[in-house]
Amino acid sequence: MSTLTQDFQLIDFNNVGLFIDGTWRLTGSKGTFDVINPSTKKVVASVPKGGSQEAKEAIEAADKAFPAWSKLTAYERADYLLRIRDLLLEKQEEIGTIISLEMGKAFKEAVGEVVYAASFLTWYAEEGKRIYGETIPALDPSKRLIVIKQPAGVVAAITPWNFPIAMMTRKLGPALAAGCTSIVKPASQSPLTALAFAKIIELANVPKGVVNIIVGSTGEISDEIFESDIVRKVSFTGSTAVGKDLVKFSAKTLKKLSLELGGHAPFLILEDADIEKAAEGAVLSKFRNAGQTCVCANRIYVHEKIATQFKEAFVRKTNELVVGESINEDVQVGPLVNKDGLEKVQEQVKDAVEKGAIIETGGEEIPELDGYFYKPTILSNVNNDMLIMNEETFGPVAPIVEFAEIDEVIKEANNTEYGLAAYIYTTSLENAITVSERLQFGIIGLNDAAPGVAQAPFGGIKESGYGREGGHQGISDYLEEKYISLKI
Ligand code: SIN
Repeated sequence: MSTLTQDFQLIDFNNVGLFIDGTWRLTGSKGTFDVINPSTKKVVASVPKGGSQEAKEAIEAADKAFPAWSKLTAYERADYLLRIRDLLLEKQEEIGTIISLEMGKAFKEAVGEVVYAASFLTWYAEEGKRIYGETIPALDPSKRLIVIKQPAGVVAAITPWNFPIAMMTRKLGPALAAGCTSIVKPASQSPLTALAFAKIIELANVPKGVVNIIVGSTGEISDEIFESDIVRKVSFTGSTAVGKDLVKFSAKTLKKLSLELGGHAPFLILEDADIEKAAEGAVLSKFRNAGQTCVCANRIYVHEKIATQFKEAFVRKTNELVVGESINEDVQVGPLVNKDGLEKVQEQVKDAVEKGAIIETGGEEIPELDGYFYKPTILSNVNNDMLIMNEETFGPVAPIVEFAEIDEVIKEANNTEYGLAAYIYTTSLENAITVSERLQFGIIGLNDAAPGVAQAPFGGIKESGYGREGGHQGISDYLEEKYISLKI
């Protein structure tokens, strides 16, 4: 039983339902599970736990809905996307509250995420109208060669808890615009945002079965998705370890896959950088979402000649951050999502300190708060033997390393199996271009700590995955190309 007294219109916390074929399922074949507020460790809601049965029904519903949805014109589908977008924007505060309660994102940032989520719908409503084919000049004068693009079919989106609404629209926007129907499996830490979104799908009168949202047993649901020959494509955002398993599972039916996986982003501050801007960028990149983004700065490399000034500015700005219960409007940094998240951070800091790191600020929990809080932390005197320099942190801890030569720092930055995002702060045009070209990452934030936007391709190389989301590129994974050879 939820203790929330606030008036919510998209979700009844005491009667949460899964959304399959346009209907609400208030019970799950696997019982129920609790969603915990990481700021307070209190139960937010109890949610029906789905499994194979619900997954099968969702796949069937999406399959049944596909012929009619794929036959609509891109203009008709765009109207639906824009209606969903308008409702999201209208309900941004309510959805922001739900995000904040279930996964601990600071409320204002959570509302910002809803606006970000809406931008993918605006973009793909338009991009769907530009799914152009090709005609190819033929060698044989009696032939006409044509390429058309068609929707891939039923697709599945497996979405993470750290951006519970934006990662859903970043996948569903292009999928729906392309004419695909869908099953969404959100992370178990953030089912309520997804189910509130299901209510928006219903309010927007999207035909039954076009979007199905099921939560519950991750193993059973993903087994059904990967065993099914109806599901033609899966888009996953999550850890590299799980991504690698999905590659194996996808082999059975040769499903298309796009994978947005882990990161270990280097943040390079060159000798000619604007120090205040670099410190501001480091705070944004590192402490946004309490350090729980795949693209957040994980290793900060600063040129030795400006290291003291940078450290002073970075510590000063970090100490200004307001940490607290995520639902409070003035809070900028909330808790970690759960105990495991907190323990990983504690372990990395302990290991670093044991190996000689110096705590410049933070380095401890916040005992006066009940949730999974850790103070925004900066470590110096860091080296490559420490866990923090080798693993994704996913928490509010910034290790600083000094360097002397650009070649040396580029080598260090690239010395990782990950390749999602990297950052460079410099005022030199030459360095901006040459260092961007030499870094082996899919996204470069050049004097920009938050490069993700709906208009541009987001994704990694190496073990950070493949496929791109956002931009005109983001719709291509949801399409199949068909070549038609016409003999006249
Ligand atoms: C992510 O961390 O996966 C998403 C970050 C973003 O879109 O800016």
